[in-house]
Amino acid sequence: MANFFCVLILIICLQLRDAFSENLTYLSVSDWWEKAGFYQIYPRSYKDSNGDGIGDLNGITEKLPYLKSIGVKAFWLSPIYPSPMADFGYDISDFRGIQPEYGTMADFAAMVAKKNELGLKLILDFVPNHSSDEHEWFIKSEQKVSGYEDYYVWHDGTPGSDPTRNDPPNNWVEAFRGSAWKWSDKRKQYYLHQFHYKQPDLNYRNPTVVTEMKNVLTFWLDQGVDGFRIDAVPCMFEDENFPNEPPSGNSDDPLRPEYLNHIYTQDLPETVDMVYQWRELLDNYKKQKGGDTRVLMTEAWSSLDIVSTYFQDQNKRQGSQMPFNFQLIMRLDQNSKAADFKTVIDSWIKTVPSGHVPNWVLGNHDKRRVASRMGGEHMADLMEMVELSLPGVSVTYQGEEIGMTDYELTWADTKDPAACQTSSTDYQKYTRDPARTPFHWNTTSMAGFTMGTSTWLPINPIYTTVNVETELNTDKSHIKVFKRLMELRDKDEFHTVSYGTDTLGESVFAILRSGPVLHKSRVYVTLVNIANKDATVNVQNVFKKFEIEPVDKLYVEVASVSSGRSEGDSIKTDSLLLLPYEGLVLRSTAVTLILSKLLVLIAIIKAFLFQ
Ligand code: NOJ
Repeated sequence: MANFFCVLILIICLQLRDAFSENLTYLSVSDWWEKAGFYQIYPRSYKDSNGDGIGDLNGITEKLPYLKSIGVKAFWLSPIYPSPMADFGYDISDFRGIQPEYGTMADFAAMVAKKNELGLKLILDFVPNHSSDEHEWFIKSEQKVSGYEDYYVWHDGTPGSDPTRNDPPNNWVEAFRGSAWKWSDKRKQYYLHQFHYKQPDLNYRNPTVVTEMKNVLTFWLDQGVDGFRIDAVPCMFEDENFPNEPPSGNSDDPLRPEYLNHIYTQDLPETVDMVYQWRELLDNYKKQKGGDTRVLMTEAWSSLDIVSTYFQDQNKRQGSQMPFNFQLIMRLDQNSKAADFKTVIDSWIKTVPSGHVPNWVLGNHDKRRVASRMGGEHMADLMEMVELSLPGVSVTYQGEEIGMTDYELTWADTKDPAACQTSSTDYQKYTRDPARTPFHWNTTSMAGFTMGTSTWLPINPIYTTVNVETELNTDKSHIKVFKRLMELRDKDEFHTVSYGTDTLGESVFAILRSGPVLHKSRVYVTLVNIANKDATVNVQNVFKKFEIEPVDKLYVEVASVSSGRSEGDSIKTDSLLLLPYEGLVLRSTAVTLILSKLLVLIAIIKAFLFQ
């Protein structure tokens, strides 16, 4: 009998191991943020509560129940601090206040109270690399007020032909085009600005600056925020010898940022270490004050090997929980094939060190909107299906959930410095305004964004059909697809399972989620046909690839607006016809798998007993 039980245990173990086939990756999540849906709000364009045509804090607070209703767990706000708005809030003149157009500290406290009441988490944008040139620190530094001399990166420049002043120290260029050095007539020196000249770079080689900025973090933690999105992380430290950067070969214009390889101004080891220091601060804050984990999200458009160092170092010193994964933005477009989706997604999964959680970003206020990048509104649902079927954290940029697309503005309406510093003929290549137009709440003349008569950026005319209210009242809509996906990914049986990616022909990309046998054992398959033509696929091939029990039938859990299918419809897995741009999330019944596994077990036990 003892023998029998040993063999039985062995068989069960083999069956369980089988459920975690080697091709599938397993992810376990435990902390609040690890499978959360994050949502980015661009405050200027979300909801205006006082009719001045500019979004504000009270507008956001009013809409927090909306966020909750679509399944969002945490929202991050682009900067809300006092700013001359040279870069729409990323030029901060007081790190501890609120931009008057956006509200007051009391409004902020009301927002914190509301998000707590709703159980949402609030992430603030922390902009450590630079301040505004109107910040008190810069004014004092320019005047060489004692103690402030080295708050910024000052340089005499190099002797040139002009007898009245030196030439800039080197060939470094700013992100919006032009030299990264600006001459100060007051101080008779150049200061470094890796972004706009009204955004002077703080000097992180000065320990007082490091402490000042850590105090800023603590200040906002004390106001009840749950974490930070850290801006322009790679740019914090520069090579102390200020050498010229080598040309990259990617541009003919020496004033464009892509002209150079930024080896002396980006991703220096000191930069990565600073992120670890901030993480330590957040972890210590939790230890001292209690509460849930405070999180860091970091912005670095760097290569994957560098991005991985922002998670942790070789000694496992911890950094950002979420170094933003921009791969879906950087490497996919309307010409991408299913194989490209697989390559891009798998490469990120491989980048994430073990013990860490992947994150997925489809868009933000700096890039063209995902639907437009991928070819149009018809791709909105498909991209959401891909993002929300993947494990880990999702980051949604406001408007993606309703399928907002870019709005091409005229030169006269253009506000973004990245465009204004170019010309009326090529600004569209650089402008970030098309993704920043006001959010669409309803069909009223200002899209429900403001009760005023004008808006800071024009409203995209598609608001008459693409808006929250209309979509909620329509049978099939982007927001309904989004909500269903968010509900699904919140379920443990969907999320705490293994996953893998596959392609079915040139145009169909598949994501498989599979649970362990005898426990939460549904299989989910997401299929997106990214081509403008029908595709007939055999889903059994996906099962075969991952060596899991094949299922004859699957049931529709979520269908894209473009699909003729509805929730609950059954699908024969050996031959499935997908319409152009059709996306489906399919599931097996739990029973099917449990039964099939049980039947195998019973057969083996019977064979053993009656041999
Ligand atoms: C990245 C921000 O996302 C962008 O909007 C800003 O212009 C730069 N950093 C400079 O702060």
